[in-house]
Amino acid sequence: MAARVSPSWRAGCRRLLSPITKRTAVTQAGEKREGDISDAFASLSGMEFKPLDPRFADVKARLVAGNEEALHASWNRLLASLRDEIPLIRKQGSSIIPEIDYKNVDKASPEFRAEHRKRGVAVIRNVVDDEEVLSWKQELRDYIMANPHTKAFPPENPQVYELYWSPAQIKARSNPNLIRAQRFLMEFWHSKDSNALISSSHPTAYADRLRMRLPGDARFALGPHVDGGSCERWEPEGYGKGEVYESIWKGNWEQYDPWESSCRLPVTSDLYQGVGACSMFRMFQGWMAMSSTGPYEGTLLVNPLLSRATAYFLLRPFFTPKIAADETTTESYPETYLAPENWSLDLSASNSWLQGATPGHGQELRHHLHPHLDLPSTMVHMPRVQPGDYVSWHCDTIHAVDSVHAGSQDSSVLYIPSCPLTVQNAEYLARQRARFLEGTPSPDFGGGKGESQHLGRPGVEDVVSVDPNDGMRAFGFKAWNSAEAGLSRGQKGVMEEANRILGF
Ligand SMILES: [Fe+2]
Repeated sequence: MAARVSPSWRAGCRRLLSPITKRTAVTQAGEKREGDISDAFASLSGMEFKPLDPRFADVKARLVAGNEEALHASWNRLLASLRDEIPLIRKQGSSIIPEIDYKNVDKASPEFRAEHRKRGVAVIRNVVDDEEVLSWKQELRDYIMANPHTKAFPPENPQVYELYWSPAQIKARSNPNLIRAQRFLMEFWHSKDSNALISSSHPTAYADRLRMRLPGDARFALGPHVDGGSCERWEPEGYGKGEVYESIWKGNWEQYDPWESSCRLPVTSDLYQGVGACSMFRMFQGWMAMSSTGPYEGTLLVNPLLSRATAYFLLRPFFTPKIAADETTTESYPETYLAPENWSLDLSASNSWLQGATPGHGQELRHHLHPHLDLPSTMVHMPRVQPGDYVSWHCDTIHAVDSVHAGSQDSSVLYIPSCPLTVQNAEYLARQRARFLEGTPSPDFGGGKGESQHLGRPGVEDVVSVDPNDGMRAFGFKAWNSAEAGLSRGQKGVMEEANRILGF
């Protein structure tokens, strides 16, 4: 079923508050300040989308210098492709999201593989038994009850808890089935360089938060966005370090491969110390469902256009409409407005817009800023999930959260991305491991006491009891086995380097 974009998303982004009032900052100790999830996005922070510092006009011009004609032709082909693809999504709605049962991950059908590659999103059913997951949820409630000082957003009616080390999270992250599901998903990625220091087959744990959204909630309304930075995707010192989007800048969007991993290794996705920015390379974001939750019940929406959507939001800042349209519409824009003839390449010094990008915040998308994506009909709900299902979306996927939870039960998930073993991830793992032992928030999420004083907080023994091998390795508590059969040079190399970083 297709979702309608809530007018509140747009209202939020038009609020006029100075960006200065909510600028993210690093503390004197070089550590990110404490924050909650509202700090991660400009619109949740009450900021306005507007043209950026004039230097971004220069960044854009340099990016495509010498390829202007090819870029324009590529843009026109992209618009034609979007016109072909969007009706399929309108027609199929949520059923366009590929699904697979956990028991079949070793024999995934060619259809699932092809659709997953194209869409970038998936539901893996029955990864963990539903009764087990419901018992985790009860333990979580007990943990929160025993520790009433637990921080959450919004504080007056908690929906997203600032918890990283609760018993449920520890059990889920070290669960062998979940680790196997993560490996299955990450093996859709490939490295063009067999010496690149990365292994998609060896998942690492990233300690993120959890959501227990209650019926009626309208505060945790995250509009369409992409995590992993915003301006950084255009900047030479950001994603430019790995030339991740080079074929798009060269005017060849069809050549862009969202599944090539080695180009992501040198990337800096957080040039502005944004609160909530992720320092690990996540191939997929994801969550484990802890409730039966369907569309409009406080769940996730995704845009299943993956490579086309990425190419579009990256190219959009280079083009300006000749004749404007009514920006307030929630309907599809008229053909005359969307037509390629109405859009001209604009590399002028005054065009410093990176639509939806704000330094220090995630990339946001809006119908009026990204009209060709037709977000009101291409943001599709996750199909109904049950406790124990795992949902994943590629790190460049546009996603959103229901603006209102119109269901009658809690909509609860544990945020657990799928992260490969890389040198950078091992370095983060070493820092995160120390935080786990002291009970303070994972390094990306600011300082503060966190759960250090919480009653009933798990320790290493709880990881051991779930999975003494891959679970312990995912947390950084056990050495990787670089003598494992069948490893590439890069896999072996990254294991050795990770072991050195982790002190083994
Ligand atoms: Fe997100």
